[in-house]
Amino acid sequence: MGIKPLSVVILAAGQGKRMNSDLPKVLQLLAGRPLLSHVVNTAHHLDPTSVVVVYGHGGAQVQAALAQVQATLAQVPVEWVLQANQLGTGHAVMQAMPIIPDDHQVLVLYGDVPLIRAATLQRLLEAGDTSPLALLAVLMGDPTGYGRIVRDATGKALAIVEHRDATPAQLNIREVFSGILVAKASRLRGWLKSLSNTNDQQEYYLTDIVAAAAQGGPEVAVVICDVAEVMGVNDKVQLADVEGVYRRERTRELMRAGATLADPKRVDVRGTVTVGRDVFIDINVIFEGEVHLGARVKIGPNCLIRNARIGQDTEVFANSIIDNATAAENCRIGPYARLRPGTVLYAEVHVGNFVEIKNSELQAGAKANHLSYLGDAHIGAKVNVGAGTITCNYDGQNKWPTVIEDGAFIGSGSMLVAPVRIGANATIGAGSTIGINAPAGKLTLTRAKQISVEGWNRPQKFNDDEKGEVISTAIQKKPGA
Ligand code: UD1
Ligand code: CA
Repeated sequence: MGIKPLSVVILAAGQGKRMNSDLPKVLQLLAGRPLLSHVVNTAHHLDPTSVVVVYGHGGAQVQAALAQVQATLAQVPVEWVLQANQLGTGHAVMQAMPIIPDDHQVLVLYGDVPLIRAATLQRLLEAGDTSPLALLAVLMGDPTGYGRIVRDATGKALAIVEHRDATPAQLNIREVFSGILVAKASRLRGWLKSLSNTNDQQEYYLTDIVAAAAQGGPEVAVVICDVAEVMGVNDKVQLADVEGVYRRERTRELMRAGATLADPKRVDVRGTVTVGRDVFIDINVIFEGEVHLGARVKIGPNCLIRNARIGQDTEVFANSIIDNATAAENCRIGPYARLRPGTVLYAEVHVGNFVEIKNSELQAGAKANHLSYLGDAHIGAKVNVGAGTITCNYDGQNKWPTVIEDGAFIGSGSMLVAPVRIGANATIGAGSTIGINAPAGKLTLTRAKQISVEGWNRPQKFNDDEKGEVISTAIQKKPGA
């Protein structure tokens, strides 16, 4: 970390016209979160005294969206400064300077450059401890459009020249400016005052401070980083490119932590996933929010897992959705299971095909293997929920609870009309509609008496003429016809 107090200035005043979107550019989503929130979070890792966002468009919308996102993330107090007219990057930084004390280091970041790593910024801050100005640069095969770092014969950085203002010789320079820099606030204030807009775009270029800093004084430091970290987002194509880099980094972290991914290109991590050893993740799995997978967990293909904890040795089979739910160890979930918010599975629970569970807990060893809806239910240990069982939890106005005590057996096709309680070790006969508490240990069933109808024949097949006759007879017979 730098030795001086730190102010981070995030430039975010650009309109983002090329997004062709109603959403301000810095609110476009990367890994399910606004671009700007990624930058704010990275800034937070540097332990700054203040974070200043220079905004121009959609200020209220941006502030509200960021506050909402950050409520669940790092709590970084952000100060907002308006740049009403976008007169250049230098002009943008000038807007923030009045609220930054002279003894601070100033780190300039960008709301649309979301992948920059805290570790890289630490290196830059360290360079900024010994230099009044430290630039973050990258080496590019094709530097078209970027500002070139111009050095003298001894290698001393002299200036940054924008692509459009560069001489043919300068255009050959492959070392380009990322836009990110660190400067001592007192010096930066002075350099910014001396900026003019006599250039091709008639803008106040932040990059022109380099020439001022290079005159006399200690050398301008240049720190090199990976190109992928400073990718900017100006349109949806670049947004997808950045998402791809983010995805690759997250899946690599998972693999380094011991997970086996059937194909890392077909796993999407849009949040934070932590794993125990020897986890296996099949293709087309999407993780969102905070997810933890215990050791040896297996996730089958085509699963969506959002804000979930899954205990060790649990297996999730194909096409399952686990949303704000937890499962303990040794559970079997799916294929085609849907665990909705508030679902808690204890150890060794089995939830099978086409079973939907909401706001319910299933105690250890309970099973609901086929075609069920369990909502607002407490399901005891070793309960067996038969195929097609439904907790009728909603009366049209209110949600009511169902309690099934330990060891009960619910026959297939039962409707449990809540509020209702099934006693321990009770058995419910298949096809029952249970609206009154069923006692423990007994067989309870509601079933119409089975009859076999004498003289009944199966319907016969008519030809079209006969059918017409049958229909017209039926219509004439209708009352009032
Ligand atoms: C800038 C650098 C260039 C560098 C490149 C890296 C300058 C003059 N040039 O060029 O050397 O290689 O970044 O991407 O700085 N912004 C504002 N207010 C403004 C102008 C810009 O907030 O008045 C914000 C924009 O939203 C954008 C960022 O600053 O996020 C960069 O501005 P842009 O005009 O795109 O600079 P570049 O031409 O990319
Ligand atoms: Ca740009």
